[in-house]
Amino acid sequence: MCPPLSRNRLRLDEKKLLVLEERIDGWRARVKDDSQAKTYGEVFDQRTLMVIYKLINEGAVSTVDYPVSTGKEGNVFHATANGEPVALKIYRVSNAAFRALSDYILGDPRFKGLKGSKRKIICAWATKEYKNLERMHLSGTRVPRPIAVEENILVMGYLGDETMPAPMLKSVKLKDPESVMDDVIDNMKCIQKAGLVHGDLSEYNILIWDGKTYIIDVGQAVTLDHVNANEWFKRDVENVARYFRRLGCDITPEAVNQRVRGV
Ligand SMILES: Nc1ncnc2c1ncn2[C@@H]1O[C@H](COP(=O)(O)OP(=O)(O)OP(=O)(O)O)[C@@H](O)[C@H]1O
Ligand SMILES: [Mg+2]
Repeated sequence: MCPPLSRNRLRLDEKKLLVLEERIDGWRARVKDDSQAKTYGEVFDQRTLMVIYKLINEGAVSTVDYPVSTGKEGNVFHATANGEPVALKIYRVSNAAFRALSDYILGDPRFKGLKGSKRKIICAWATKEYKNLERMHLSGTRVPRPIAVEENILVMGYLGDETMPAPMLKSVKLKDPESVMDDVIDNMKCIQKAGLVHGDLSEYNILIWDGKTYIIDVGQAVTLDHVNANEWFKRDVENVARYFRRLGCDITPEAVNQRVRGV
């Protein structure tokens, strides 16, 4: 899954690489505290830099511009590919707070037989997020458009514009919560149609742009035959019902469940 990669094997565009390295150093210098600087050091380990070089050489990425979010497991960056904005989600490989990703991967028939190093598991995780995005995209779920995955880096469509990334559902004051809820439920129906359960669906993993909701962070999504599928589906349904109920919608988990499953 992670073939050996060496700088010599790649046709490197030295100028682009220099720009990228200067940019990363600039972010590192600007951050306020040591732990954030350490985060950048961890995200851009040597191998990850090589993967970015590879994506640049293959034309999947043209520029890496600025960080959009620094999470526990990885960072998301605004980047471009052939003039179009894209998002790079870079999973951190040297990560002390590495959660039990393998719990999700084990038990998923698509990843049967995967053993090995943490790096291998993280690469499989990024691939899993990509495949989940593809399946959801095909079933009509509003998700960032899957573009490429290479080792621990996922390239997808960017939600937002040059002034700001699309905000999380939880940060937006909704004029009409009911219609936004309907939109989320439509997305949930499409996820079901894809044969998947999101597994971490909440106001934190739904972005809003142009009045439409987009589902993100789909790495942990599992197929309907996964041992935890029912339990996680129930949790997703409860999160959505709780959030919109708090905003005054007349909704219960049972009603969301019925609408999503069409029962
Ligand atoms: N395609 C995208 N376009 C624009 N912004 C994005 C995109 N994907 C993710 N983001 C931003 O990056 C943040 C983190 O993304 P995501 O939830 O996928 O990662 P995560 O590993 O779960 O991080 P966290 O631990 O912060 O939740 C999102 O909350 C959102 O602000
Ligand atoms: Mg998230």
